[in-house]
Amino acid sequence: MEEKVFAGAVSGRFDAEKHYGILLDCVKQIKERTEFLPEIAVVLGSGLGHFVESMEIAAEIPYKDIDGFPVSTVAGHQGKLVFGEIGGKKIVAMQGRVHYYEGYDVHEVVIPIRVLKLLGAGTAVFTNAVGAINTDYRPGDFVVLSDHISSFMPSPLVGENVSQLGERFTPVTDLYDKELRELALSIGQEKDIRVHSGVFLQVTGPQYETPAEIRMFRLLGADTVGMSTAIEATAARHMGMRVCAINCVTNMAAGINNSVPSHEEVTATANKAGKDFSILLKELITRMS
Ligand code: HPA
Repeated sequence: MEEKVFAGAVSGRFDAEKHYGILLDCVKQIKERTEFLPEIAVVLGSGLGHFVESMEIAAEIPYKDIDGFPVSTVAGHQGKLVFGEIGGKKIVAMQGRVHYYEGYDVHEVVIPIRVLKLLGAGTAVFTNAVGAINTDYRPGDFVVLSDHISSFMPSPLVGENVSQLGERFTPVTDLYDKELRELALSIGQEKDIRVHSGVFLQVTGPQYETPAEIRMFRLLGADTVGMSTAIEATAARHMGMRVCAINCVTNMAAGINNSVPSHEEVTATANKAGKDFSILLKELITRMS
């Protein structure tokens, strides 16, 4: 049987020591390519990769050049680390990410954010495309997360704890930083960009939801639904990072206003929202302490 490439699973069990070794090896390979040390990690979701055009770019490393780093297979996800400055802040942007639905296991999905933390980033900003369950939202709106529901996903912290990264039983009560959330909301008001505060729910995908699932998610208190972010945010919190997440509403969720979500709609709306998204994110990064 072929050995698992990324997670270091042995006999089906997660091997924390091996996983940590992979992380350190990725960090070493990155440091061989650039001396740039980021303070902030930004994960760019589907169709939101143009944000890097607002950066003063110092270095770029394709994921495929980093042995052990998972490579995204989704069309529209470019798959590279972009290092540079924006508003005087040193950031590393992930142009594209891997998803659980691509067949990566949950430990592999969080390798990138773990590597970026080990590289020195203390703050993580996750972004993704989502469907809106809340009927006050419209495609093109943004939602800064007040909280999430990840109960439909496996936890990235299952298996032996990677004790070099964080503790076994991590509280996630205040996962999303309140100050950053309020800052994003105030930038929205100032720049006339629709930014809400809401609860996000992550599903595995890759199929979009059934209308019955969306009715259930609404009853559970979710405002938006998407296929990434919550498990990466959980891993970031495990490592003590300051976390912010911004959803880009690309469509109404299945069955809401008779919506039938499609990948074409998701990428087309994300592209259209790209300009507002870049303004919001640039201001957020520039103004954060
Ligand atoms: N559901 C799940 N993921 C998504 C959606 C959706 O409606 N839109 C964009 N990503």
